[in-house]
Amino acid sequence: MAIRFLRPPLPCIDDVMNHPKKTTTPRTFHVKSFGCQMNVYDGERMAEMLGAQGMVPAEEGVDADMVVLNTCHIREKAVDKVYSDIGRLRRDDGSRPMIAVAGCVAQAEGGEITRRTNMVDIVVGPQAYHRLPDLIDKAARGEEALDTDMPVLSKFGALPDRPKQPRPTAFLTVQEGCDKFCTYCVVPYTRGAEISRPWAAIIDEAKALIDGGVREISLLGQNVNAWRGEDATGKQQGLAGLIRALDKMEGLERIRYTTSHPNDMEDDLITAHGDVEKLMPYLHLPVQSGSDPILKAMNRSHSRDSYLRLLDRFRAARPDIALSGDFIVGFPGETDADFQDTMSLIRDVGYAYAFSFKYSPRPGTPAADMAHQITPEVMSARLQELQTQILADQLAFNQATVGKRTHILIEKPGRKPGQLVGKSPWLQSVHVYAENAAIGDLIEVDIVSAGPNSLAGEITARKEAA
Ligand code: SAH
Ligand code: SF4
Ligand code: F3S
Repeated sequence: MAIRFLRPPLPCIDDVMNHPKKTTTPRTFHVKSFGCQMNVYDGERMAEMLGAQGMVPAEEGVDADMVVLNTCHIREKAVDKVYSDIGRLRRDDGSRPMIAVAGCVAQAEGGEITRRTNMVDIVVGPQAYHRLPDLIDKAARGEEALDTDMPVLSKFGALPDRPKQPRPTAFLTVQEGCDKFCTYCVVPYTRGAEISRPWAAIIDEAKALIDGGVREISLLGQNVNAWRGEDATGKQQGLAGLIRALDKMEGLERIRYTTSHPNDMEDDLITAHGDVEKLMPYLHLPVQSGSDPILKAMNRSHSRDSYLRLLDRFRAARPDIALSGDFIVGFPGETDADFQDTMSLIRDVGYAYAFSFKYSPRPGTPAADMAHQITPEVMSARLQELQTQILADQLAFNQATVGKRTHILIEKPGRKPGQLVGKSPWLQSVHVYAENAAIGDLIEVDIVSAGPNSLAGEITARKEAA
């Protein structure tokens, strides 16, 4: 579904004569992704596809023959950033790389982008990027290269197999799109309707990732717990079934999933947190607000109470589960009392982590035309109050892990010589000095200190690879 109506036509921002169309076939490329993990995953798959075509990755955008800006449309600021990033790709000698705008801005704004700036050669939506090689050829010939079709499943089928991965952790998109139509949100328009990738395609991709060195897989979807499909025997499965199948795959150590919606929660996913060893004790479950009237106006179709009861069930299945959420402050009509309901919900839950945003009106969404828009000053004050609470809760959560013995998956070197950084089961960054450990190792540590954003650990013993 195209949503060009989401933004009114914008004036052209540059001088046509200065930025003629690129007419050479690019050999090097750079992909820069913004927004959610699904976009990061798409960016990786685009890079893998261009690599499979014989193109070579470049470190910096300006040095590359072609740059893909894989964009996010969720808030106004994110969109504005795209246009400033395009401007920054101008080189000192006046030339520029071939530029492709991909992702959700491409889907939402389509041809409006090339009308606004002639620095863009290719516009490709999040469900059409498997056609990027053809679009590059078109652009190199000086032809219009725009594709915002939505053939979601054929996209996955057309992408090359996953090669060896640079990290021990990987994303794997299993579900795309959203049918929820929260009144503030562009995602149902930019990503299309909810679609589940088939079981076999997911298992095959997981196998390729594990063979390529991956030890932790995060299953992704805009509403990942809405995933449904038939397993190899034809039995209907939900996300928990998929997780149980991954749990049996040798070489894989950890499984995560994000982002879940409170309305699509199946009982077995809750149970899985109690009995699937590789499933990490972490749940990202956005609530957005703690006020029922605001949740109703947002079209969230869950209440404060039903959300809290759901969290109780997760805690019963896995008492140490780390909870995280998303919050919007300043939704139209949000009173001080509504906001205080959100604050009290936050205090009740005690989040380990949370993302919080000022409401950003998105043209074409129902909330943008609602009465009683909140002033920027009120939004800023509310966001600050909320983030202060979240930070305190985050610190308290981290401090409560001090003294625990746990495993961390080493992901990267630290800033100091000999230091390594790994992730705890609860997704905390843990700094450790471990001479014999390497990236990709799962090691046992004692947590010795904690700050709001990371922990320090001391090595106990090395867990042998399976
Ligand atoms: N599918 C997920 C999240 C998708 S977008 C869910 O349903 O929760 C990620 C987050 O961006 C949302 O959870 C919401 O908190 C925030 N967001 C979406 N639209 C927004 C808007 N118009 N203004 C501010 N924040 C927004
Ligand atoms: Fe957006 Fe709501 Fe869908 Fe999440 S559930 S992607 S917030 S419309
Ligand atoms: Fe942004 Fe699109 Fe993701 S709008 S948050 S990149 S689904």
